[in-house]
Amino acid sequence: QKNGYKHFMLKEIMEQPKVLRECLRSRINEQTGFLQLPSLDNVMDRILAARRIIICACGTSWHSGLVGEYLIEGLGRIPVEVEYASEFRYRSPLLFKDDVVIVTSQSGETADTLEAIRIANKAGALTLGIVNVVGSSIARETSAVVYLQVGPEIGVASTKAFTGQVLVLTMLAVILGHRNGNITDAEALDYARQVQEIPDKVAEILTPENLASLKRLSASLRYAKNFLYLGRGFNFPVALESALKLKEVSYVHAEGYPAAEMKHGPISLIDQQMPVCVIAPKRHHEGNYEKVRSNIQEVVARSGNVIAITDEDGRADLATLAEHVMVVPSTAEWLSPLVSCIPLQLLSYWIADYRGCEIDSPRNLAKSVTVE
Ligand code: F6R
Repeated sequence: QKNGYKHFMLKEIMEQPKVLRECLRSRINEQTGFLQLPSLDNVMDRILAARRIIICACGTSWHSGLVGEYLIEGLGRIPVEVEYASEFRYRSPLLFKDDVVIVTSQSGETADTLEAIRIANKAGALTLGIVNVVGSSIARETSAVVYLQVGPEIGVASTKAFTGQVLVLTMLAVILGHRNGNITDAEALDYARQVQEIPDKVAEILTPENLASLKRLSASLRYAKNFLYLGRGFNFPVALESALKLKEVSYVHAEGYPAAEMKHGPISLIDQQMPVCVIAPKRHHEGNYEKVRSNIQEVVARSGNVIAITDEDGRADLATLAEHVMVVPSTAEWLSPLVSCIPLQLLSYWIADYRGCEIDSPRNLAKSVTVE
C-alpha cells in the first residue's frame, strides 16, 4: 500500500505529479481548450452573481482557502472572505442569499466545517464543497461538489489534498475571471496551458538530486527547536501551511508569517539557532522578490540561518545571502504555491523522520476531526 515508501506521508508527497494530473482530468474542455468544472455548471450563474464568496475550513484546508482568496479576488474579481469554520459557526455571521459559501475539506467530515455548511444552507446561501472523500457528509450537504480526485489520503498530515484543493481553487478562479470578462479568451487558453504544466513542474522538484539535497538539509536542521516560515502574496499561506506541517509531524515549534510582518514582532526571535525558511521566487514575482530579499537581508544581519526557496532566476543572487538555496521551477505568481510548498513538505517529513517521530499518525492528532 505504501508502494515501498517508509510512510504514507512520503508516498503521498511523491505521488503529487500523478494525482494532480488526475485532478485535472476532464477539467480541460477538449473542444475549446478552456478550463471547466462540469459539476458546477448548474450553479455557475449563481456563483457569478454572488455578492461575495466566503471560504470556510479548518487547518490545512483553511490554508488552501487563503490561497483561494488571493486567486478568486485576483483573477475572478469577486470579493472573498476566508474563515475558520470553528469561528464562523459560533459568531452569528451575516449571511445573504446572494452569498456563496465554499468549504474545503479533505475528509468531508470535519464537524465545524459541516456545521458551517448547515448554517449557510439555512440562510439560503449557495453552498459548494471542495472535497476529497466521495460521498462524505460535506459532499452530501452542499449544493454542488468538486472532488479533488487525488485518491485516498492516509497520512494524517495533509499534503496531496492541499495541492489538490489549491489546484481546484485555481481552476475555479480562472473560470470565474473568464466568465465575468476579466480574463480574455486568449488569456484563458494561456492560463489553462500553464495550469496543465503544473504536474510536470512538481515532478521536476522530486528528482533524486533534489531529494538527496533536502534530506541532507533536514539532517542538519533536526535539532533546531524553533522555525520561522516567511512568504509574501500567494506564498504567505504556504508559509503558514509549511509551519503547520512541521509542527504536526516533527513536534518542533514553527510559525508562519507574511514576510513583511517579521519586523512587527518575530524579528526579535532571530538568532543563529533559528532556521528561517523564506519563499522567494524571482521570475514573474518582480514586485515581491525585492521586498522578500530585503527581509532575508534583515534575517542574515541577525545571524539567522536562511533556507531560501526560489527559482533559477533567484539562485545566484540568494546564494550570496542564504545558507541553503532550494530551486523550484518558475511559474506565474498565481501558480507558485503549487510548487513552493513541495520542498517544504519534504523538509517537514525528513526532519520528523530524523527525529524518530510517528509520522503517519502523530500524537494527539486524528485524520478526521468529527468533534468540535
Ligand atoms: C493538517 C491537517 C488538518 C486538517 C484539518 C481539516 O495536515 O490534516 O489541519 O487539514 O483537520 O481537515 P479536513 O480537510 O478533512 O476538513
